[in-house]
Formats: sequence, C-alpha cells, structure tokens
Amino acid sequence: MSTEIALDKNRIPKHIAVIMDGNGRWAKNQGKFRIFGHQHGVQSVKDITEGAAELGVEYLTLYAFSTENWNRPKIEVNALMTLLVKTIKKETATLMKNQIRLTTIGQIDTLPLDCQEELRQAIETTKNNTRMTLILALSYSAKWDIVNSVKKIAVQCKAGEISIDDINEDLISGSLSTKKIPDPDLMIRTSGEHRISNYLLWEMAYSEFYFTDVLWPDFRKAHLHEAIANYQNRERRFGKTGEQISEVK
Ligand code: IPE
Ligand code: IPE
Ligand code: MG
Repeated sequence: MSTEIALDKNRIPKHIAVIMDGNGRWAKNQGKFRIFGHQHGVQSVKDITEGAAELGVEYLTLYAFSTENWNRPKIEVNALMTLLVKTIKKETATLMKNQIRLTTIGQIDTLPLDCQEELRQAIETTKNNTRMTLILALSYSAKWDIVNSVKKIAVQCKAGEISIDDINEDLISGSLSTKKIPDPDLMIRTSGEHRISNYLLWEMAYSEFYFTDVLWPDFRKAHLHEAIANYQNRERRFGKTGEQISEVK
C-alpha cells in the first residue's frame, strides 16, 4: 500500500479514537504467545502517534486496556502492565521530541502503583507540549465514566449547588473524564471486529466509524492515511439533509 494517499489538509479529523485490537490473533497466527502481539503493538502505537501528529490531528485517544480486560488471565494482565510501564519510561523522550502531551482517561487508581507513578511522571513532563494530545484509555469503560458522572451530578444536586433543570448535555459532558477533549470525529477499530466494546459511548454519538481487518501490530501510518481518506469521503450530516450540508459548503 502506498503512503501517497492525497489527503485534504483542511479536513483532517481533530480527534481520532482508536480501538487497538488483534494483538492476540497476530501472535497466534505465528504460533507465539499473546504477549508477543502486545509487544509488537507498541511499534504501531509509535507509528500512529507520530503519523497523527504529522497530519495535524489534535487529539488521539488509544484504547489500551478496558475495565473488562481485567478479566483476562493474570499472566496476560501482568505482562500488559509491565509493558505499559516499560513503554512509558522509554517513550517519554519521544513524546518530548514530537511535542506531544500525554494524558489518560479511566480508573487510573486501579493500575499497579509503579504504573501510576510512571504515568504521573510522563504526564507532568509532557504537560506543556502543544502539538498533539495523546490520551491513553486505561482501565477505562464508558459505562463506568457515565455512572461516575451521574454520581458527581447527584452530589451537586443534593448539595443544592444545581437544580434538576440545570442537568443538560453540557453538564454531563463536563462531568465525564473526557471533559476537556472534543468528541472524536473518527473512530478506527482494527482486526475486523465490528463493535465498540464500552468505548466512549457518550462521546461517539456522532463519530464516523472505520473498521479494518488489519491486525493492530500490522497497522502503520499508511493504514491511518487510508482511514482518514475514507473519512474525508463521507458527509457528516448531524441529522440534516445532504442538500442542507452542500448549501453551506
Ligand atoms: C488488543 O488486542 C489489545 C488489548 C485488548 C489489550 P487483543 O489482545 O484483544 O487481541 P485479540 O483480539 O485477542 O486478537
Ligand atoms: C477492546 O478490545 C479493548 C482494547 C482495545 C483495549 P478487546 O479485544 O478487549 O474487546 P472485546 O472484549 O473483544 O470486545
Ligand atoms: Mg481483542
């Protein structure tokens, strides 16, 4: 596949959310342990992060570990956490070089302590970078985030700080862990699975979805370009008619 796909620089998605899937199958296809796939997936993370920044994407959210992933065999969970710590430690310098700010969404306090500490340091070190924000979804589930948001709003209501009539979409959006992040324009899922697996349910109400059979460890910049080219050929109507959309162009 060529990397020479012509992209409209004025219509680059501002926020891309990715479900990085297929590491286990990639490894299995080669008769290797699942963790081998996760290890190779790190190169894809690097390539796609760099590729997105080069194109002027402002926010890139990567689903790295879901709340449901805690149910995997302990040996795999431990290996994933070790890989996370190692990668953050090693790649903070690359984030600085590329002027990328790191942040997270999810139940970070459920991660192993060394993991939390590595994340804290990397977030602190990269906090003033402005080229792109890389958001890692870790121990994340959209339903958890929504439940949490409802609890926060209920507390405010109970304390008399807000009334029931103050509850609107903005208040809910502002109570989620994604509050400072614009909704994703494009969601990419690799590995041929056609589901969203508890990812950004509220935020993706109007995202464009792109599914590819490519397994995550094989996903490279050229595939990202292909996904964006596909996105650029779509018409985002937000409930309006196609005619209304072409009138404002
Ligand atoms: C995605 O790859 C990585 C994580 C969920 C951490 P998988 O591990 O889900 O790979 P498959 O779906 O089993 O191939
Ligand atoms: C979703 O992938 C979570 C991540 C990519 C981290 P899974 O592979 O765990 O999703 P399901 O459970 O098969 O839907
Ligand atoms: Mg999977």
